[in-house]
Amino acid sequence: MCGIVGYVGQKQALEIVVAGLRRLEYRGYDSAGIAVLADGVLDTRKKAGKLVNLETLLGEDPLPDSTTGIGHTRWATHGGPTDRNAHPHVSEDGSVAIIHNGIIENFTELREELTNSGVTLSSDTDSEVVAHLLARILPKVGDLTVAMREVCKELEGAFTLVAVSPLYPDVVVGARRNSPLVVGVGDGENFLASDVAAFVDHTRNALELGQDQVVTLTPEGVSVTDFDGNEAVVRPFTVDWDAAAVEKGGYDLFMLKEIAEQPKAVADSLRGRMTKDGRLQLDEMSLSDEDLRGIDKVVVIACGTAYHAGLVAKYAVEHWTRIPVEVEVASEFRYRDPIVGPGTLVIAISQSGETMDTLMALRHAAAQGARTLAICNTVGSTIPRESDGVLYTYAGPEIAVASTKAFLTQIIAAYLIGLYLAQVRSAMDEADIRAVLEDLDNMPQAVDLVLDTVEPVRAIARELADCKSVLFIGRHVGFPVALEGALKLKELAYMHAEGFAAGELKHGPIALIEEGVPVVVIVPSPSHFLHDKVISAIQEVRARGALIVAIAEEGDEKIVAFSDHIIRVPVVPALMQPLVSTVPLQVFACEMATAKGHDVDQPRNLAKSVTVE
Ligand code: G6P
Repeated sequence: MCGIVGYVGQKQALEIVVAGLRRLEYRGYDSAGIAVLADGVLDTRKKAGKLVNLETLLGEDPLPDSTTGIGHTRWATHGGPTDRNAHPHVSEDGSVAIIHNGIIENFTELREELTNSGVTLSSDTDSEVVAHLLARILPKVGDLTVAMREVCKELEGAFTLVAVSPLYPDVVVGARRNSPLVVGVGDGENFLASDVAAFVDHTRNALELGQDQVVTLTPEGVSVTDFDGNEAVVRPFTVDWDAAAVEKGGYDLFMLKEIAEQPKAVADSLRGRMTKDGRLQLDEMSLSDEDLRGIDKVVVIACGTAYHAGLVAKYAVEHWTRIPVEVEVASEFRYRDPIVGPGTLVIAISQSGETMDTLMALRHAAAQGARTLAICNTVGSTIPRESDGVLYTYAGPEIAVASTKAFLTQIIAAYLIGLYLAQVRSAMDEADIRAVLEDLDNMPQAVDLVLDTVEPVRAIARELADCKSVLFIGRHVGFPVALEGALKLKELAYMHAEGFAAGELKHGPIALIEEGVPVVVIVPSPSHFLHDKVISAIQEVRARGALIVAIAEEGDEKIVAFSDHIIRVPVVPALMQPLVSTVPLQVFACEMATAKGHDVDQPRNLAKSVTVE
């Protein structure tokens, strides 16, 4: 949420910062802005709306040549998405410009104090106070880094801040508490960004910044301290994908590319996790087998699509391990006095590793003594860094705001953890574990097959594009898939969509059914004990006029008589079905949004990485 880029080096800062913002636009697109230092003068341009508006402005009113610059793409929290609320914010005397991601919770008091001391604020944001506070302290301390440290101590809440000052040419100073910021280390140039995607064209050498750290970049070096000025330890890492991974690669949309990448993402997330003799090996998780044997409960915390992955995993993990699994929306977790302790394994699922609700829930669990484990797609991000262990997914960068390939790989990772728990606790026979691992191994091919057969989904989506509402129903693991199908449609097509447990329909939601309402049904395999029960649910809604779109297994002939449209998915074991049945729903939502003329990759009001609570 909000993308931040900083550059200092020998090249044109403007080009590098704009290109970086383009890569970070998925984090927010309410406004964009840039500040550069040139010949001892600070110059800014900012514009409401998407980055393209700023680029148009820069064409009409160019910025001077400069080798030091910062840029911001905003997801509005405090203050509407207007030009005046766009970042950077500049102090009254023009001595400092800042960009911010997060929420400064004590901004009301700080604004009041600044106003009382004669400062005129020129935006409605919480962020602007930082520019004025820095400008006020700068003459006293005579150093931008020291000033940043002092100001950070006055702030409450979550923030990534980046500042430049014409008094300190060739210097960019950043700070972070709770919100993301990584350093890109180049040769004669250095970078700051919310996400490595912003600088991966220039360098793959990066530094993870820790909590409450201040970083100073010059062309020659990077120094990091804590808020008290003590030198801080930072972990270097290498970005293991290249710039092509964050380009559309011939697809019209990132979402289409990411849907197509799912077989590879699943394969990559499974690779190297089995020994030659078929045992599961998750050393990277860094939780001891003894710890895992002591677990008496698993709690999954996550948001959005990642939460749905957790719901899918519950069915499998409980079945395999016989350990109770609770799955909870992270934003609710810590506010209800949850029962967690040393015997609880808390698994935080997050593609970005930065979702604030998930991070806060994780911290709460850790404070109660729980063992914590992250399932994450972003190396160097906060959630894995603050967990006892991590199992990375290898989906590669996911740019489209609506999550697709991350979902499938999160299910894979959670399944691997479930099987590993079963292995170390001897809850399953080795042969049975091996059989499931073989099923998992077949999944990239199965997902590939679905992709080959989703074309009819597009026609159905176009046919239904004018309907007001779509309902999704499923049972067992098909229930979270129904929730995910509905979420995708809401996110992308901006239409009323809801997912229900098929058995729950008759307890209320069936009142929503009227003539022609599309109901997408995740049909279990005919060999599954719930197949007939789902058919009963179909009959109940069909009798009331629903139009049935069935996601059904190849060879399920019984479903034909009960469906208006059938989307076929390959035959896979019951617990693997979400990995294939979700894919047509992703395509359905994407096509529906396209038919409605929406921006699929950047849907309205959303941001991919939600770094505020
Ligand atoms: C946002 C995104 C969703 C995503 C959720 C959790 O709401 O729009 O697509 O599922 O955050 O994100 P995470 O990075 O924690 O998986």
